[in-house]
Amino acid sequence: TIRVAEQIETKRAAALLGGGQARIDAQHKRGKLTARERIDLLLDKGTFREYDMFAEHTCTEFGMEKEKYAGDSVVTGRGEISGRTVFVFSQDFTVFGGSLSSVHAKKVCKIMDEAMRVGAPVIGLNDSGGARIQEGVESLAGYADIFERNVLASGVVPQISMIMGPCAGGAVYSPALTDFTFMIRDSSYLFITGPDVVKAVTNEEVTQEELGGAKTHTVTSGVAHGAFENDVDGLMSLRELFNYLPLSNKDPSPIRACDDSWNRDVPSLDTVVPLESTAAYNMKDVITSLVDEGDFFEIMPEYAKNLTIGFARMNGRSVGIVGNNPKFAAGCLDINSSVKGARFVRFCDAFNIPIITLVDVPGFLPGTAQEYGGIIRHGAKLLYAFAEATVPKITIITRKAYGGAYDVMSSKHLRGDRNYAWPTAEVAVMGAKGAVQILFRKDKANHAKHEAEYTELFSNPFPAAVRGFVDDIIVPSTTRRRICEDLNLLESKKLKNPKRKHGNIPL
Ligand code: COA
Repeated sequence: TIRVAEQIETKRAAALLGGGQARIDAQHKRGKLTARERIDLLLDKGTFREYDMFAEHTCTEFGMEKEKYAGDSVVTGRGEISGRTVFVFSQDFTVFGGSLSSVHAKKVCKIMDEAMRVGAPVIGLNDSGGARIQEGVESLAGYADIFERNVLASGVVPQISMIMGPCAGGAVYSPALTDFTFMIRDSSYLFITGPDVVKAVTNEEVTQEELGGAKTHTVTSGVAHGAFENDVDGLMSLRELFNYLPLSNKDPSPIRACDDSWNRDVPSLDTVVPLESTAAYNMKDVITSLVDEGDFFEIMPEYAKNLTIGFARMNGRSVGIVGNNPKFAAGCLDINSSVKGARFVRFCDAFNIPIITLVDVPGFLPGTAQEYGGIIRHGAKLLYAFAEATVPKITIITRKAYGGAYDVMSSKHLRGDRNYAWPTAEVAVMGAKGAVQILFRKDKANHAKHEAEYTELFSNPFPAAVRGFVDDIIVPSTTRRRICEDLNLLESKKLKNPKRKHGNIPL
C-alpha cells in the first residue's frame, strides 16, 4: 500500500505538470497561461475539485502507447465563482497540443452530463490543435459526443466558451453551439480551415489572424461575442459575466445586494434625446445612467453597433438590455443587428432574465444588399424571439418607433408587459418626409405644409397612448424607478406558450 500511495503521488505530480516544464515554458513564452493556471484564476480560491486526473489515452498506434500523460490533454472538474457552482474544462496545449482524444472527450462529456443533472453552467477554456490525429475516427466520435451534449444542454444550463489558443476544424462547432464565445486578442483563432487549405482551394492569401483572429470574429463575422487583451483579463471578465446568469433554466434571474437606490431620478435622461429628430445620441449613455452603478456588461460591442445588447442589474436583479443605438446607422435594424438581438433575447428568455428594450428605430435598412442577404428571414428572427419570450418584458420608446420595426421591438402587441413612451416618442408608419412623398406625390408644392401636418398628427406619443399601445407617457428622469417597480411586480408573472415539440424559428 505504501507503493500505491507513492504511485498516486507520482501520478498526481505528473498530472499537475501536464506536458512537462519545457512545454509550460513555451506556453508562457507565447503570453498564454497553462490550463491549470487558467482554472485557478477563473474559480474562487481553493474551490476546484478535479475529476479524472488519472485518466489516460488508450491509443496504441504510432507508438502512442509509450507516450501517456496523467489526465491527458484536458483538465476538468467543478468549482465556484462568487460562491456559485460551475463546471469547467480547460484544454491543455502542453499535452499533444491540447488535441482531442477519446478520453479527452469522455472527460468533457462527464462534466457536461453532471452539470445538466445538478443544474450548473459549463465553461470551456479552448486551446487545442483539434482532433487527435493518431486516434482517427475515435476522436471525431468524441467531438460529436460533445456536440450532442452542447445541444441538449442549450437552454438548460448556460454554456460559455473562451477561445485561448487554436480552435480549428470540427473543434469550432462546440464553441459555436454554446451561448457565448469569447476570444483572447492575438493568441486565439477560430476557423474551419486554416490559411494553407484556403490558399490551396480558393487561391486566397490570408493570415491566420485575418482569417480567424479576435478582430475578425468580433467585428466582421459575429462568431465571437467579445475579445479580451490577455488570459487574465478574459478570465476576470468571465467571472463578471457569470455573476449575471442564473445557474440553470430552473432558477430565477439572480438578485444581489444593491447600494444604488432603486428610485433615484436620472435627470440626464430628460435632455438626452436631441431636439432635432434626426440628430444622433448614444443609447449606451441611456443604459449606463439607468442601471445599477452604471455597470453594463455589453455583448458583441464591436458588431452591429446599431443595436446595443448586454447584461445589467436593476435594483440588484439581472436584466438583459436591448437598445437601438441611433449613434450608428441611425439605429436601424438590419440583418446583423436582427440576428445579434434575436440570439440574445432567446438566451434571456431561456434563462428567466427579464428583458428591457429601449426603442429608437427608424425602420429596417432598405436596399438590395439587405434584401438579397435575406433581411426578411433574418429580421423575422428578432420578431420571433421577442414574440415567443415569456419573461418580463419592459419597453421604453425614447424617440422613433417606425413601421414594422415598431412591432418588432417588444411592442405591446408581442405581449410586452409594460410599454412606456417618453414625451419625445414618435410612433408612426414612417417619418414625415417619407410619408408626405408617398401621400402627396402630386402636390409637391405643398410638401412643407403637409409635413408639418403629419408631424403634428403622428410625431408624438399620443396616437399610441390613446389606443393603449403604450401604458403611460413618462418623464424620462423617472424611468429607473418605473422599471424597478415593474420588475418587482412582474416577478410573479406567469405566461406559457402552447405545448409543442419546438417552434420553427426562421433560420
Ligand atoms: N493531434 C495530435 N497531436 C497534435 C495535434 C493534433 N491534432 N495538434 C498538435 N499536436 C501536437 C504536435 O504534434 C506537437 O507535438 P510535438 O511537440 O511532440 O511535436 C504539439 O502538439 C504542439 O503542436 P505544434 O504544432 O508544435 O504547435 P504550434 O503552436 O506550432 O501549432 C497548430 C499549433 C494547432 C496550428 C498545429 O499543431 C496544427 O496545425 N495542428 C493540427 C491541426 C489539425 O489539422 N487538426 C485536425 C483537424 S480537427
